[in-house]
Amino acid sequence: MSDALWQKKGLSGADEEVQRFLAGEDVLLDRHLLPFDIRATAAHVRGLRTIELLTAEECAQLEEGLAALEADVKSGAFVLGPPFEDGHSAIEHFLTERLGPLGGKVHTGRSRNDQVQTALRLYMRDRLEQLGGLCRETALRLLDRAEADAMTIMPGYTHLQRAVPSTVGLWLGGLAEAFVDIAALAHSTRDWINSSPLGTAAGYGVNLPLAREQTAQDLEFDRLQINPQYAQNSRGRFELQAITALAQATLELRRLAWDLSLYTSGEFAFVSLPQRYVTGSSIMPNKYNPDTVELLRAQHGVVAGALTELQSVIALPSGYHRDLQATKPPLLRAFESTLPALALVPALVSEMSFDREAMERALEPAMFATDVAVEAARDGIPFREAYRAAMGQEVGQRTGADSVAARVSPGACAQLMLEEIRARAQVVGR
Ligand code: ARG
Repeated sequence: MSDALWQKKGLSGADEEVQRFLAGEDVLLDRHLLPFDIRATAAHVRGLRTIELLTAEECAQLEEGLAALEADVKSGAFVLGPPFEDGHSAIEHFLTERLGPLGGKVHTGRSRNDQVQTALRLYMRDRLEQLGGLCRETALRLLDRAEADAMTIMPGYTHLQRAVPSTVGLWLGGLAEAFVDIAALAHSTRDWINSSPLGTAAGYGVNLPLAREQTAQDLEFDRLQINPQYAQNSRGRFELQAITALAQATLELRRLAWDLSLYTSGEFAFVSLPQRYVTGSSIMPNKYNPDTVELLRAQHGVVAGALTELQSVIALPSGYHRDLQATKPPLLRAFESTLPALALVPALVSEMSFDREAMERALEPAMFATDVAVEAARDGIPFREAYRAAMGQEVGQRTGADSVAARVSPGACAQLMLEEIRARAQVVGR
């Protein structure tokens, strides 16, 4: 494979150094897109058959060739890499090697511009579904833990200062509800991007009555992305939206990881993690460090960086520009590193353990002052007066259990409404 398939006659073409620059890491990144590109190519082939640009026999041969490539990719017999420029040229090359000139028919009415867009769209759809599933699973595990320790007392903090008695149920129920919302966001983002760019060619359509509706249905898109130039100019924008959903997940993950890194510290000592999440220090024999939690916390940095990178790259006029290739690395880096990180979280949530005594010991009498003030207000004293009276006042023989049992406002400790959160978790994405 020395020359690109679109090498012009009489032109020597880009030399090796320039070729390497043009390809960058692109051909390696295309490994993630190749299965989707193959599926989209098969749909395109069936579309060409519908408009009678391929005979039934040719269509069947191309479909078989694509199925063989798919199998080779799955088994590892075909590994994408240099000297191919990208996954798109590799597909055409594979078909041409196998089927001769018929392989060259596959690109009829298609450009790499709509080809890459279609593969990316299918990739994002798949990864957003995975994201939604992982957030849902995390929410369900958090709910299990929240239910089991619904009334386990712990301090509620504001400003990292002890504020009022609270519960493990309230802490974990809150994280669960957040992950349900993010699962819903992942699925609605999936629907938002689920339009078909296939058949828009280089951004201006082609002089063929392409079966665009058919190929869109074939690939399970919900609608056509109608305008060919818009199809190109949405490149990077749709990626941005997908990564925004991902960023919501890593933001929440960062909060959970922060809580765990504080609560596993000797200062709090509320939570401990199984050995498998913990590492030792190379110099300090006494140390057990929650490195897993810390790397989970750092994952948002990767995603936030990808968002910034994408936004910077897509500052372009209308039409395709090769700059758009540079939207691929941040997209893939963000998803391919975050989904495995998120996949660790459900088990981590299930396996952490609580030191319930330590949590309750962390209450101090002043934390009941709000209860005292609200009780007085309930008995008719204007709240501002009750507030002043409760400052520094003796709080009497109160326990954390009394405090949280009386917290009956909907959603609060005595009425967590975990079943309602679970009911939403069960239907999200279904
Ligand atoms: N690797 C390229 C990309 O990601 C494929 C499309 C190339 N199109 C072109 N007109 N050179 O954008």
